[in-house]
Amino acid sequence: MKLLVTGGAGFIGSNFILYIMQQYPDYQIVNMDSLTYAGNLENLKSVEGNPNYTFVQADIADKQAVDAIFQQGVDVVVNFAAESHVDRSILEPEIFVNTNVLGTQVLLDASKNYGVTKFVQVSTDEVYGTLGETGLFSETTLLAPNSPYSASKAGGDLLVRAYHETFGLPVNITRCSNNYGPYQFPEKLIPLIISRALNDESLPIYGDGLNIRDWLYVEDHCSAIDLVIHQGKIGEVYNIGGNNERTNLHIVTTILEELGKPESLITFVADRPGHDRRYGIDPSKITNELGWKPRHNFETGIKETIRWYLNHKDWWTRIQSGAYREYMTQQYGKRLGEPE
Ligand code: NAD
Ligand code: DAU
Repeated sequence: MKLLVTGGAGFIGSNFILYIMQQYPDYQIVNMDSLTYAGNLENLKSVEGNPNYTFVQADIADKQAVDAIFQQGVDVVVNFAAESHVDRSILEPEIFVNTNVLGTQVLLDASKNYGVTKFVQVSTDEVYGTLGETGLFSETTLLAPNSPYSASKAGGDLLVRAYHETFGLPVNITRCSNNYGPYQFPEKLIPLIISRALNDESLPIYGDGLNIRDWLYVEDHCSAIDLVIHQGKIGEVYNIGGNNERTNLHIVTTILEELGKPESLITFVADRPGHDRRYGIDPSKITNELGWKPRHNFETGIKETIRWYLNHKDWWTRIQSGAYREYMTQQYGKRLGEPE
């Protein structure tokens, strides 16, 4: 099997490549990634020399570069490549449309023209918008995205559906809840809080801190995608989530407790515009139809993750370079009362 993984140098993509290469050592993996600020080949150091692994630096919206890869033969595409951070989409929406909508369409065209056996779109639960205090997202919940990020992901998601309905492209769409674990870029809540707490820096919590996310350890997301690739019924959407709803405040206090840092570091700041209140996934379809079960529970998963960041300080301090610092000032300068 020859697998084209796009966005394989990012958080979930790199965890996925490491996972798949361990599960299926004879599979050939092509990792296509343009290496934005979020792409980091260091994550894949352990497989770099493996003859079954190839890296191609290219943009999924670059038709010529995409065609050149498909000409070499591709069986299955797993599309992780995306601009993935909601706050950045509020600062700069255009790039989100380019990659998440147009880029997906370029990949779909190539997949149709070269006849892949399956195209898996890694979508997100954010396409459903927000929940009130009760209920869960099912695969038939209406799409109602609220941020430029989630709207662009919904655009990509719907194009995948359309290529199946119109051209008969064999597809699956996955919609997973919030991931956490090793190699997550320290702009996202959990690694941001761990890294700032370790440096005794203030911890920005948006609004009242009572927004809820449904957390899943990244390896469990990878095992779900593995099942979807091999057993997913063509044309189907699968929600992925581990029933781990937590408020942001709970996440932050758990991290502080684990690190032995004071709650006085917590700073409530101006809310994220359009901030979704609650996400909660109903995973019964993938559980009942494909037999998927997460292996990690939140209490052990968060401890493992904190340990990973403690043991990989070099990894995240290297990332916190000039470009990252510029973003942090733009995003948090005013909110935390720092000079811009
Ligand atoms: P990430 O930002 O860590 O990684 C994205 C990767 O895509 C990076 O390596 C980046 O260089 C690459 N990339 C960006 N634009 C590209 C382009 N035009 N061409 C080629 N490569 C490009 O993101 P992540 O958190 O690993 O998320 C991966 C996917 O999973 C995304 O599609 C995201 O929407 C989806 N998802 C994420 C979560 C989550 O909690 N992180 C949950 C559900 C779904
Ligand atoms: O649900 C899946 C989605 O989860 C993915 O599709 C996205 O790619 C991924 O980034 C994530 O989106 P969120 O917006 O939920 O993740 P983030 O880590 O940015 O924020 C998690 C919660 O924490 C959210 O309610 C906002 C809050 N937050 C975040 C940051 C960065 C804060 O309170 N302060 C912060 O500084």
